[in-house]
Amino acid sequence: MKRKRIRYDRIIIVLVLFILLIFGIKLCFNFLKKTSINRTIKSKGIIKTNKDELDIWNKSITYAKKNKEEVTIQRRKYSVTIPSKILKNGMNLNINYYSEYIDEALFDNIKVLYVKKNELLSNSSKIKIKLPSFLKKNKIVDIYGVKNGKIELYKSSIKVDDTITIKTNKKYDDYFVAYIKLKSISVKNKISVNKGEKVELEFTYNPSNATNKKVNSNIKNKKIAKFINKRVIGLKAGKTTLVLTSDELSVDSIVDITVNDSKETVQEEGENLEKKVEKHKLTVVDGITYIDGIMIVNKTYSLPSTYNPGGLKEEFMSAFEEMQSAALLDGIRLFIASGFRDYDYQVDLYNYYVEGDGVEMADTYSARPGHSEHQTGLAADINAADKSFEGTPEAIWLDENCYKYGFIVRFPKGKDEFTGYEYEPWHLRYVGTELSNKIHELGGISLEEYFDITSEYKN
Ligand code: DAL
Ligand code: ZN
Repeated sequence: MKRKRIRYDRIIIVLVLFILLIFGIKLCFNFLKKTSINRTIKSKGIIKTNKDELDIWNKSITYAKKNKEEVTIQRRKYSVTIPSKILKNGMNLNINYYSEYIDEALFDNIKVLYVKKNELLSNSSKIKIKLPSFLKKNKIVDIYGVKNGKIELYKSSIKVDDTITIKTNKKYDDYFVAYIKLKSISVKNKISVNKGEKVELEFTYNPSNATNKKVNSNIKNKKIAKFINKRVIGLKAGKTTLVLTSDELSVDSIVDITVNDSKETVQEEGENLEKKVEKHKLTVVDGITYIDGIMIVNKTYSLPSTYNPGGLKEEFMSAFEEMQSAALLDGIRLFIASGFRDYDYQVDLYNYYVEGDGVEMADTYSARPGHSEHQTGLAADINAADKSFEGTPEAIWLDENCYKYGFIVRFPKGKDEFTGYEYEPWHLRYVGTELSNKIHELGGISLEEYFDITSEYKN
């Protein structure tokens, strides 16, 4: 019988290949582990008392310093981000975090979250905290800063879901995250206005520092009066009522309205070259309308066909770039999908839509030439101009944060009757931070409501 010969050479080759494969896998694994460990430290226990974690932390600091990166400590309930320039090996990592009742008039016995200072917090650029359920449920909070025992409002009406990120400020030692419930609003309960005139209602909120001051309004007879931005506008002689409601209030406020006949007629908007619109000043320069210095373009107010800034304006671009960097830190990528469009471009675009959908339909989502904000160089569509953009992390981020950089979502949801267009979560208009903050504080009302102007084509 012939004995089977063992092929030692083949076995050795297979063994060597196997060892090389294991070695390769291990190398890859170590590389991945190293890079991920050095960027984020995940821990369940208290870092201070855990030697292993301290080692990881110190390695991460060395890595981050070398690569000029910031470091984020990720814990179960919060994360703290520290900029690379202040990183120190052996930093104290004991972070206090707790919630408690603060029995002070300012907070009206409201439960707040107290974010207490320690070495790490005072050095960090932002603190991300997982919110307890009593603060999450209202989806909106205020942040108060504490300096030498004095408490002051730091940021108001911040939209939140499960977490909140506090950008730290050198001014403050500690922070409170609070939700203060609106108990009541008082407002004049009888009001008399002439046809074509406006009366501003004065709201007194109790408590005055209530977090959510959003009030819904409903005028019973919309032919007699309308209510925009706290103003009652008389349309036709008669009597009606205005009902103010809020999710917070147990009792609605009812205002009786009487509109008196008067010889004056409602003034056509855009008729005069210069007029006072309540507190707002409308001017027309070279055929361009400005209110309080803000360029106004909508269905009522147009731009001359020759107006061409040549691209997105510098103030738009620098604010956009700042916002883009901030978004990136939150894992959100923003880019300009459609920026400046000149008059001729809008002619083609609008005609294309009209061919497909007809004038009536096209007018709900596309501006006629001369009426598009894209011609201003101060507006752009971010990431997409498509209904599927709604509800994406990018759309949510823009909705919650764009005001910080001077932008507004120009065609907000449910505001078609004021803006003349359906919801466009992607279309941002640069108005500067002064106005964007005011509009944000008013719950994201449209520019038309803010300035009390129309957006309607003449024909
Ligand atoms: N989509 C907006 C309304 C525009 O065409 O400018
Ligand atoms: Zn647009």
